[in-house]
Amino acid sequence: MSVARLLERLEDRTAHVVVVGQGYVGLPVAVRAAEVGFRVTGFDVDTGRVDALRAGRSYVEDVDAARLAALPAGRFEATDDPAALRGFDVAVISVPTPLREGAPDLSHVESAAAILAGALEPGALVVLESTTYPGTTEELLRPILESSGLRAGADFALGYSPERIDPGNTTWTFESTPKVVSGVDADSLRAVADFYGALVREVVPVNSPAEAELVKLLENTFRHVNIALVNELAMFAGDLGVDVWKAIDAASTKPFGFMRFAPGPGVGGHCLPVDPSYLSWRVRRRSGHAFRFVELANDVNEHMPEYVVQRITMLLNQHERAVRGTRILLLGMAYKAATSDWRESPSIAVADRLAALGAHVEACDPHIPPSSHDRLPVPLVEFSPETLAAADLVAVLVDHPEFDPDGIARHAPLVFDAKGLLRGRDFAGECL
Ligand SMILES: NC(=O)c1ccc[n+]([C@@H]2O[C@H](COP(=O)([O-])OP(=O)(O)OC[C@H]3O[C@@H](n4cnc5c(N)ncnc54)[C@H](O)[C@@H]3O)[C@@H](O)[C@H]2O)c1
Repeated sequence: MSVARLLERLEDRTAHVVVVGQGYVGLPVAVRAAEVGFRVTGFDVDTGRVDALRAGRSYVEDVDAARLAALPAGRFEATDDPAALRGFDVAVISVPTPLREGAPDLSHVESAAAILAGALEPGALVVLESTTYPGTTEELLRPILESSGLRAGADFALGYSPERIDPGNTTWTFESTPKVVSGVDADSLRAVADFYGALVREVVPVNSPAEAELVKLLENTFRHVNIALVNELAMFAGDLGVDVWKAIDAASTKPFGFMRFAPGPGVGGHCLPVDPSYLSWRVRRRSGHAFRFVELANDVNEHMPEYVVQRITMLLNQHERAVRGTRILLLGMAYKAATSDWRESPSIAVADRLAALGAHVEACDPHIPPSSHDRLPVPLVEFSPETLAAADLVAVLVDHPEFDPDGIARHAPLVFDAKGLLRGRDFAGECL
């Protein structure tokens, strides 16, 4: 296949780019592609999201409404109409890849691929960005696209490029984070590298889509395992009478061979509770072996919400109080600081357990938009000196920048701090 025409269209920015899936991953890619000059179609099956984008509203923090408004007219169109994809030059697939009963659910990738197969023309490029197990691009995506009658490598370019966005991170953005790229053959790799080369500062080519798929799972498994390590350490350090936060801070002064991870109430979001299981599923499927690190890390991290509730119960007990009937204010329902994403958030599990024990639970989360409030298991209240003071116990579950540690230390009558936000301060209560 000759990619010369596609490379030219990438070079002069006349390529029509479609991004299938306008979520946390797809929307930033679509907007960045439009900003560098491509004509972009953002396709999503969720009409609510399409309507929001058409009205200039963003539901993803990394893309604010001002960025959407600043795009020249006609540069970015959101749609739920598959006809708008016909004849695309580049298609990026960024749809969810959840787990269903512990196994990968690739149904969204399959349906996105089927739609693209109907719109595919010779000389186009398709790139998968969804996180998945090694082998998906070649074994699952390729045959669906080839049902069009066109062949990957011969008639169209095909590759995989994992997304590395860190929602809420203003230092390492989509543009400044190096992007790993791969293709099913040399021409495909060139096309994928040239496309992303227009969007980000640095691309990192690897040998095959399977290698790139493994890169993403390796990165997330590394985080998952290391968070589990410090979480388990935090549970033991309490018994040993050692301050785990001080030990971690001191270990972090080592300039080489150590990377800082912090304990907390568990892991959440779309990545850590899900992606490592894609890898362990594939390993077990292929070789029959258990990926023991992943399974152990799942075990430790999944236990953390229960451990936090246990510690809250013990802390109340020391103050001669039962959980039942106590007013508990949870700080943070998102899965991590500075994001509104509360999918799989460990705070939800903590809230559910405390409510089941009879506590009156409320929460503060300045990042979660009002449209999500009625789907949360507990009512949200404002973060203020009054709400802090009105609670019997305040539990810090997320270190959002708005949560002022001095204010919490001053106004909350009793605190359980699962994020170490108040360490070094004088307050009634304890850290994880
Ligand atoms: N959120 C992150 O921080 C992050 C980081 C790296 C990788 N990823 C991976 O990227 C992928 C997407 O994640 P996300 O967080 O953007 O998910 P998301 O749920 O925010 O967005 C996915 C979008 O895809 C849409 N969709 C589903 N099926 C579709 C179809 N057939 N056609 C068109 N649209 C469809 C959904 O309506 C939704 O709007 C996942 O594989 C995830 O693991 C996510």
